[in-house]
Amino acid sequence: MLALVIALPAGEVELASDALWALGVVAIEERDGEHRIDDHYVELWTSLGDDADTVAKAAEGFPARWRWRLVEVDETVAETWRAHVTPTWVADDVVICPAWIPVEAPSGTVVLRIEPGATFGLGNHPTTVLTVRALRASLFPGATVLDVGCGSGVLGVAACAFGAGRVDAIDLSPAAVGVTAANAARNGFGGRIAVSTTPIGDVDDSYDVVVANILAPTLIEMAGDLRRVLGPAGVLVISGVLSGRFAHVVDALAPLQVIAVDELEGWAAVTLRW
Ligand SMILES: C[S@@+](CC[C@H](N)C(=O)[O-])C[C@H]1O[C@@H](n2cnc3c(N)ncnc32)[C@H](O)[C@@H]1O
Repeated sequence: MLALVIALPAGEVELASDALWALGVVAIEERDGEHRIDDHYVELWTSLGDDADTVAKAAEGFPARWRWRLVEVDETVAETWRAHVTPTWVADDVVICPAWIPVEAPSGTVVLRIEPGATFGLGNHPTTVLTVRALRASLFPGATVLDVGCGSGVLGVAACAFGAGRVDAIDLSPAAVGVTAANAARNGFGGRIAVSTTPIGDVDDSYDVVVANILAPTLIEMAGDLRRVLGPAGVLVISGVLSGRFAHVVDALAPLQVIAVDELEGWAAVTLRW
C-alpha cells in the first residue's frame, strides 16, 4: 500500500495533522526528518489510500513548503498502529475503547466501542475527549442531537449512551456513513442514529444539542447554519479549536453566548447557547 510522507517544519505538525484528519486519515506517525539550518523538520507518515491521483489531488491543498512523497509500504506495517492503541478514559466512568481490544472496566462504566475504519477517529484525540465531556454535561434524557462532522460516529454513540433520544449524524466524507452506522449498531444504538452526507445547509430540523468537532475555518464558514439548526433552548458544543485562540470562532457565532470552556493538550471545546 502507499504511505503518504510529508516533510514539514516541526512547528506546523499540528496544522498538518488537522488537515490530514479532515481528509480522513486513520493514523499519523511522526518521525524525525532532516535538519535544516533555520528549522527542525519532521516527517508525518500516513495514508490516503492507494490511488496516487487521489492523493495528489488532496495534496494540492497543502502549502507549497510541505514536501510530500508516496512510499510503497508493507500493508502489515501500515496496520501496526492497531496493536498499540489503548482505551481512552474520558471520565472515571466513561471509556472509549478500540473495538478490537478487550477493556477491563468496573461495572457501571460506560464503554463505547469504536472501529474508525477509514475515518477520524478512534476517540482518543483531545478534541473528541473534550466534546464527549461537554456533550455529557449538556444532554438531558430524550434530547435530539445533530453531530456535524461525525467521522466514526463516536460523538453520536456517546450521546446515545448519555440518554439522547435521536442523533442525526452528518459528514461530507462518504466513508463516515458506513463506519458511523456500524459503530451505532456495535454499541446497540442502531435505531437511534441516522447518518448521511447531507450538507448542514440542507438540514431542516432544529436540535436540543448540536456538536461540531471541526476545524475553526469550517466552523466559521458554517456559523449561520449552526445557529439556524440550534433550537431556542439548544446548546452548541464546538471543538477543533486551539486553546486561547478561538475568539474569532465565537465572534462568528454571535449572538450565541459562551457558557463553558474546557481545555486539553492545547485544544479547547466551547459550549454556547442563546
Ligand atoms: C475532527 S473530525 C471529528 C470526527 C468526530 N466527530 C470526532 O469528534 O472524533 C472532523 C470531521 O468533520 C468532517 N467535515 C469536515 N468539514 C465538514 C463539513 N463542511 N461538513 C460536514 N463534515 C465535515 C470531516 O470529514 C471529519 O470526519
